[in-house]
Amino acid sequence: MSKVRYLTGITTTGTPHLGNYIGAIRPAIAASKDANIESFYFLADYHALIKCQDPEQIRQSTREIAATWLALGLDTDNAVFYRQSDVPEIAELNWLLTCVTSKGLMNRAHAYKAAVQDNEQTAASDPDRGVTMGLFCYPVLMAADILLFNGQKIPVGSDQVQHIEMARDIAQRFNHLYGENFVLPEAQVGEEGAILKGLDGRKMSKSYGNTIPLFQTSKQLQKSLNKIVTNLLEPGQPKDTADSTVFEVWKAFANEEQVQYMRDQFAAGIAWGQAKKELHALIDAELFEARERYNDYMNNGAAVEAILQKGASKARAVARERIEKIRHAVGITPIE
Ligand code: TRP
Repeated sequence: MSKVRYLTGITTTGTPHLGNYIGAIRPAIAASKDANIESFYFLADYHALIKCQDPEQIRQSTREIAATWLALGLDTDNAVFYRQSDVPEIAELNWLLTCVTSKGLMNRAHAYKAAVQDNEQTAASDPDRGVTMGLFCYPVLMAADILLFNGQKIPVGSDQVQHIEMARDIAQRFNHLYGENFVLPEAQVGEEGAILKGLDGRKMSKSYGNTIPLFQTSKQLQKSLNKIVTNLLEPGQPKDTADSTVFEVWKAFANEEQVQYMRDQFAAGIAWGQAKKELHALIDAELFEARERYNDYMNNGAAVEAILQKGASKARAVARERIEKIRHAVGITPIE
């Protein structure tokens, strides 16, 4: 039986937080160990440029995200782990796809529509204010990322499902015009439980400013956890697990037995301070070793770069062969 190809990109803006870990990184690394799955995971640095025009931030985030995935145990002999910009065939396919993508399709993209709506609400004179062609065409680049490698299952957050559908539309259009070149990708959305709550109880997200960084010192981690908002119930008063962020985060790291243990503690009225201490111990136990490795990678850029170059050469071997066929399909060939 042939393997199923999983492919996903991680935009290189920001510092990885616990929500990224629970929602995306941990399941992706687990999937990469499955013998029936072939994993292509990449640092989406071209995508980062859509949102961020600060070179130092792009560099720093790329370094942090690469170090994070390696520290957490991504096996790069097994998974193909690469940087998008190291595979120029992606940019080339981006253009070929741009030429079969209708503008109307892009008009419907959520990210673009949200930007326009913002402008309309603030009564800006130009509804397209601040909208670059990068933002407008972003779903095409994403389609190129996926279709170049014939990614079949695409693990993403629910906000990205529309983009995978657009990639399918674009692939179908291309296949219709030029023959069967692309497999149609499918989104794989993480389960509801995989969305971690942040400090204020909303989804943990950089845009809400409520995140807990994944790798910080043990002491800093306790400080962050102490900032999780709780109610005013005193020690000894029974607490409800249902609306508790402390409990939700506990659940994301605990085994069944530990979940039951904390349920009992809540019923018995554990003090919030104590619950947060125990939460700290639980998370620290899971991340302790990875944190050491992370620091090592952060101090050894050359080692990280070498691993990425190994990934790039594997990815490019696939990409070159694919782009050759695709160029041929559209009529870009040597003159005979
Ligand atoms: N746009 C995605 C995000 O913001 C990241 C991404 C870029 C991606 N290219 C991709 C995800 C291709 C899946 C497949 O989350």
